[in-house]
Amino acid sequence: MKDDVFSRSANRRSFLKGGTVAASAAALTAGLPGRVLAFDPDEDDRSQPTKGDIAILRFLAAAEIIEADLWTQYAELGGIGSNPPIELDPNEALNNYQSALSNLDGDGPQYITSNTLDEVSHGNFLNAYLASKGAEQVSLEAFRTLPGSTAPGTSGKLRITNLMNLNVDTSWFVRYRSTTNPDRGATFPQAITLNNVTAIPRNAADLAGTPDPQFPIAVPDHIQAIANVAAFHFGAIEEGGTSLYATLSQKVTSAEVLKITLSIGGDEIAHFLEWVDFSGNGVQGPVAPFTDSLSGLTFPNFFTNPPVQNTLSLTQPSLIFPVPCEFLNKDLPDVAIIRPTSDKNGGAVAAANGFINSGLFIGQTPKFFKTLLQLAEEADAAQRGF
Ligand SMILES: [Fe+2]
Ligand SMILES: [Fe+2]
Repeated sequence: MKDDVFSRSANRRSFLKGGTVAASAAALTAGLPGRVLAFDPDEDDRSQPTKGDIAILRFLAAAEIIEADLWTQYAELGGIGSNPPIELDPNEALNNYQSALSNLDGDGPQYITSNTLDEVSHGNFLNAYLASKGAEQVSLEAFRTLPGSTAPGTSGKLRITNLMNLNVDTSWFVRYRSTTNPDRGATFPQAITLNNVTAIPRNAADLAGTPDPQFPIAVPDHIQAIANVAAFHFGAIEEGGTSLYATLSQKVTSAEVLKITLSIGGDEIAHFLEWVDFSGNGVQGPVAPFTDSLSGLTFPNFFTNPPVQNTLSLTQPSLIFPVPCEFLNKDLPDVAIIRPTSDKNGGAVAAANGFINSGLFIGQTPKFFKTLLQLAEEADAAQRGF
């Protein structure tokens, strides 16, 4: 379970390939002071996680528990439940929040429920894997202290995350349409400013209102604005997960742990793609432009009023795949990739700070922040063993 144990196994493997055991052992031992060649068969197992691998998995387990908590709040109010999919009838059975989300994609409530189930499975799997390797599991249940929404449909249980006072980072919407890369120093403006906003109906009053015939499914502009905020928040969360898994995978040593991070990371990408499309539908016709008559929050039509540099390309709402961008160095051609994937921009501390700066943990205790950041620092400190 230690990095040095793994190094010994790796060294043994490579020198066995190279020639006679006795001669090579002497040369290798001499060349690598401080390392001991071990020939214990029990240690020659490439699948065993290193200490760094465990730190990565523990931070990812925490991140998944956080994702599961916030997605559960979305699913209780905006999802269709975990029952078999039902045909959505726009005229009945849906509450206004679900209707508003359906305006962004007719299958939106189903996708919200599916995303939630995925996050729960990610967290459960990672903790079960940690336990199977004799490592300590992660629990954030001690921090389940925040009162959530009181709107009809909520379970009323206490939460780990806050969705009712968010500063949603919408710069990813610009970043994925840009040809520049944060890992090469680029910065990106917000696509739309969403400060101190709620992403879920906070109470029954948020759900009420007079239907606005402008929308495909008539809902009040106030709840449509809340759904639009949620759409950009979905993208921010899943983009963060996408970069996080891609960044931490570069530090993994065990082949089995790499299989886990690449496989779960692929699901984060799948989520992100849907929410790119979803949020784009909130800033084009027929939904946009519109203004929340209660809060004054306006969602322009990005096609007719591009919010960044007056150019359509940086916020074109019909784009959903990554636009090719600079990567590694200026001599190589632009390429369509996940970005960022550097420690600084996409690592565990960067992800934790992204969560924190968005207001996701408003109301949490100092101990919570300390716990989260310590897990993040330990994950970022992991080094690839070979
Ligand atoms: Fe996840
Ligand atoms: Fe996710």
